[in-house]
Amino acid sequence: MLYLGIDSGTQSVKAVVYDAEVKRVVADGRSPHSLIDGLPSGHMEQDPQQWVDAMDRAIQDALSNVDRSAIKGIGISGQQHGFVPLDESDQVIRPAKLWCDTSTMNECEIITQAIEDESSVISLIGNRMLPGFTAPKVLWMKRNEPENFRRLRKIMLPHDFLNFYLTGEWFMEFGDASGTALMDTRSRTWSDEVINAIDEQIRDCLPELSSSGDACGHVRKEIAEKYGIPASTLVSAGGGDNMMGAIGTGNVSKGIATASFGTSGTIYAYNEEPVVDPRGEIAAFCDSTGGYLPLMCTMNVTTVSESFRKLFEKDHGELALAIERVPQGSGGLMMLPYLEGERTPSIPSGSGLLIGLNSKTLQADYMIRAAVEGVTMGMNFGLRRLRELGVSTDEVRLTGGGARNAAWRRIIADVFGTPVVCMQEDEGAALGAALQAVWCASRQSDSEISISSVVEGAVELDESSRVEPDPSGVEFYKELQAFHSSLSKTIEPHFDAHSRFKS
Ligand code: XUL
Repeated sequence: MLYLGIDSGTQSVKAVVYDAEVKRVVADGRSPHSLIDGLPSGHMEQDPQQWVDAMDRAIQDALSNVDRSAIKGIGISGQQHGFVPLDESDQVIRPAKLWCDTSTMNECEIITQAIEDESSVISLIGNRMLPGFTAPKVLWMKRNEPENFRRLRKIMLPHDFLNFYLTGEWFMEFGDASGTALMDTRSRTWSDEVINAIDEQIRDCLPELSSSGDACGHVRKEIAEKYGIPASTLVSAGGGDNMMGAIGTGNVSKGIATASFGTSGTIYAYNEEPVVDPRGEIAAFCDSTGGYLPLMCTMNVTTVSESFRKLFEKDHGELALAIERVPQGSGGLMMLPYLEGERTPSIPSGSGLLIGLNSKTLQADYMIRAAVEGVTMGMNFGLRRLRELGVSTDEVRLTGGGARNAAWRRIIADVFGTPVVCMQEDEGAALGAALQAVWCASRQSDSEISISSVVEGAVELDESSRVEPDPSGVEFYKELQAFHSSLSKTIEPHFDAHSRFKS
């Protein structure tokens, strides 16, 4: 039996075909999509039709050399938090505002004040109201585009929209829904208080919440014909990319932590109980297997390393060499990497900062290493908070493009102070989506089957990539991290004032 796992990310759609008998990925495909150009700073939007087109291409590519009649199920992973607004004819009203859009700071403030203050919001839903989340995007549309808001009938997340395209079903499971900030992530119910703070009418624009182990539905007839797959193909609940990445890296029981070095940087760990951070730095999400997924997210990882790589016209091999050529600490050059603002620490109006420029460090290699160290320390800020909240991170499983670079992995192991190891299958979220589809299909005949039994044997570590932390490196970065974090705190209040000079 074959299963399709799809990951619709910020830059592209990846598709894998997973063979459940041999427990491995046997084919894959990929197709890019793009952000809308020319929007004001902080606005990050995409046309959902582009995701559909890219998914069609990636699926056709992945299926080109496999027996299409053996496809039994599909699982979809999608970038979290994006707001896809549909009208009464199920047409997309405007482009989707994405997880990395920071234009809704005022709306976060308005919702927070309507509820009372930040700690009341955390008590109510388990999370702070942050620009990345979906709720403030809905209020943004009401305040800025009243005509569009009047037409709103369905609120969907990116992966819900792709599920809807495949099945015609309007379906929302707990994992991705927990990132809307419209839901109390502990009781797994919509929050009337947050809904009313936006507009009580939007209650009707949200479906009932469903368990992540349920099926969304079967593929529509047109889809079965288009892909040449059986009409009986099941579409599982799917989930956010981090929730699916958790499944695809075997993070479905306690004691495992995953770090994703992709367009966003995330670190998360499965938990049976909700983990709520009273400071709200760690998000209290649900996972997409029935558990919880405390998660920290930074917005600046490979976007930063890629910007510097392209600026200095280097290929990926040269980027690795540049990192190796420069000593730990980049000769005193330090970067705060908040190119388009930052979620953790919460500095939506932040921008990048380089300190320590001199005649030695004003060089491509030094800037590249400083950028890579800066984003890694940015992620470590959240990792330390996860540990303070009792989340075990004794070994960190790595996924995402940044982790493929061995020189960067050395920095990660030393900054995090833990052994780090990559996965045999790089596309953790797409694999996770396929595995959730296997679980969903198996549950049709055996409702008790555990996700762990599905994941076992399917998810393997790439031991050749393992890096142990070096004690002197760990000591070095501990000191540097303290400086990085305190610089970040000191400069934080000045970013708002500085943003006046951005045009
Ligand atoms: C997590 C987050 C990002 C996106 C990236 O909360 O916003 O990791 O899911 O696609």
